[in-house]
Amino acid sequence: MYEQVSHSLLNEILIKLNPEIKQHELRHFYTRLGANFYAIHSLFHLLYGDRDDFEDQALCLVEAMARQYMDRSKPLKNKDIEREKDHNWFLSQQWVGMALYTDGFADNLNGLKEKLHYFQELGVNMIHIMPILQCPDGKSDGGYAVSDFRRVDTRIGDNDDLRALSESLKKREILLTMDVVLNHTSNEHDWAKRARQGEKKYQDYYYLFDNREIPDMFEETMPEIFPETAPGNFTWDEEMNKWVMTVFNNYQWDLNYSNPAVFIEMLDIILFWANQGADIIRLDAVAFLWKKIGSASQNEREAHLILQLMKDCCQVTAPGVLFIAEAIVAPVEIIKYFGEDAINAKECEIAYNATFMALMWDAVATKNAKLLYQGLRSLPDKLERATWLNYVRCHDDIGLGFDDADIRAVGYEPAGHRQFLIDYYTGNFSDSDARGLPFGHNLKTGDARISGSLASLVGLQAALESNDPDRIDNAIQHILLLHSLILSFGGLPLLYYGDELGILNDCDYLNDEHKAHDSRWAHRPNFDWDKAELRHQSGTIEHQIFTALKKMITVRKEISAFADFNNRELIHIENPHLFVFSRFNLTRTAGSVLVVVNFDANPQYLDMNHPHIKSVLSYGQVVDLVSGDTPTMFKEQLVIPPYHYYWLTDEQGSI
Ligand code: GLC
Ligand code: GLC
Repeated sequence: MYEQVSHSLLNEILIKLNPEIKQHELRHFYTRLGANFYAIHSLFHLLYGDRDDFEDQALCLVEAMARQYMDRSKPLKNKDIEREKDHNWFLSQQWVGMALYTDGFADNLNGLKEKLHYFQELGVNMIHIMPILQCPDGKSDGGYAVSDFRRVDTRIGDNDDLRALSESLKKREILLTMDVVLNHTSNEHDWAKRARQGEKKYQDYYYLFDNREIPDMFEETMPEIFPETAPGNFTWDEEMNKWVMTVFNNYQWDLNYSNPAVFIEMLDIILFWANQGADIIRLDAVAFLWKKIGSASQNEREAHLILQLMKDCCQVTAPGVLFIAEAIVAPVEIIKYFGEDAINAKECEIAYNATFMALMWDAVATKNAKLLYQGLRSLPDKLERATWLNYVRCHDDIGLGFDDADIRAVGYEPAGHRQFLIDYYTGNFSDSDARGLPFGHNLKTGDARISGSLASLVGLQAALESNDPDRIDNAIQHILLLHSLILSFGGLPLLYYGDELGILNDCDYLNDEHKAHDSRWAHRPNFDWDKAELRHQSGTIEHQIFTALKKMITVRKEISAFADFNNRELIHIENPHLFVFSRFNLTRTAGSVLVVVNFDANPQYLDMNHPHIKSVLSYGQVVDLVSGDTPTMFKEQLVIPPYHYYWLTDEQGSI
């Protein structure tokens, strides 16, 4: 795209560039800058065009990108070029991820480096290490209150350890995912300290107010994220004598992206970690990036423009690096974080599939897939070159963020149904083995969310307490069934550390005054490596779960129809207990797979004469890809045992 205004600005910027930058050989950088500059200029102008210093800020932006390009190592630059050629590389079914806390899993980064064989044993080849940057003691929100964006937290190592880890991961072909907490800093970050001391430059990095006038206007329409522990969205700072916007905890100061200096700083930080070897950057709380009086200050158009601009800039300096959007918002809003178009207005390549996650938990509690089917049906198609991050559990709570219209469409009343789910998972429902904990209960709205480890939520804890082998078996079946979905649905499956062994809630957090009020710590365990050893001992729960997951992961990687090219069809089935979809290769000639899941406690039957199913499995003998067995059939009805799943193919349909 050639456009005069942006091109002449680019010419001027190139003339003004610092001589030190000009000396460098930046051929690839300039080609990419030229290709992206029209978009970069348009977005930067939309966001900051009314400022007098617009052109100076644009120069700063280009200089930041150029400097980080100069710092990018040769191997990483080669990787960029390789990925540019094979730009769909991340849609492959070969990738399987796991999220973990470094200290919970292995004490520190060096310890983690010594444990990489564990991931290889399971088949995991992408690890998301939860935030590892410097945070104050105690007031850290699990790493999401950063006081130094360029330094690994001294408690788990240093930047050299991270680089060593990243090199070891590269040799093993494991991808590294890291967080950059874009929306806020800790109140102990240097910028916050300097703002407190009265430096105007840094006061402009945040939303600060002398009195309640504007905060009160914001509060009229902004929801509360942590209503119990951090009510409201503003905190009074004694030293500064000002109100600070703090949407999350009161020690997390929201950054002000209407200031271009903030944008440039944060882009620079993203590129800095890209240069330390991160393959994927998880962008935290992206829905919150733009604040507007009179709105919920979530999912604003400008938040999308910021992400588009970040993507365009990152593509110039480090095009091989992907973004994950963490936007735990309404289904129709989440999908917008992929961007509007795969080439123009691109945002994040990957987004948390919070909708699918919450819907699966609905199906477990109700023992039927009605809402799961309906909710997924209502999701708009996503872009090409974009993929879901599919997960069952993560470090956060489960929010029941599905659409009210969908809940009604399947015959429930939204408020009552959500209350049932909260009760079901938090021990207030007699017919439930779940041992979850409430989180974020809002007395004003009645809203609540759920904490708890996968194993405790599906009843393993209760089953072990009652020492009942059938219930233990049911819980294990649930763990496998839910994983069978994230591994086959299409997208990048993200396991959560400990779930592969059936780790239960860990109540140790109650003894720590900084954690006791936040039940999410119940499912952020300290890994018990003795327990992990039991994965080798046949007959143990750990062995059953670990080996079954390992098998599923191996099989997933062999099935090309499991790559994510929007090659999935949900199949409507009369029997509400079953959830059925097909995955197919793009030619649709061979290798289709029918995924069938039974959420019920009784065996269920699937009519194999259903026209849609016949079109997927048309060659006769049906085989389950995971066990290699032919499932039981009765009069052309496939029998699916309680809480069981199948990945079915027909023998001739070669994979
Ligand atoms: C993200 C994190 C969550 C944290 C929040 C505030 O959503 O996943 O754990 O509390 O950001 O930083
Ligand atoms: C809210 C936010 C999400 C965050 C979570 C923490 O749901 O939308 O970003 O992870 O709170 O509990």
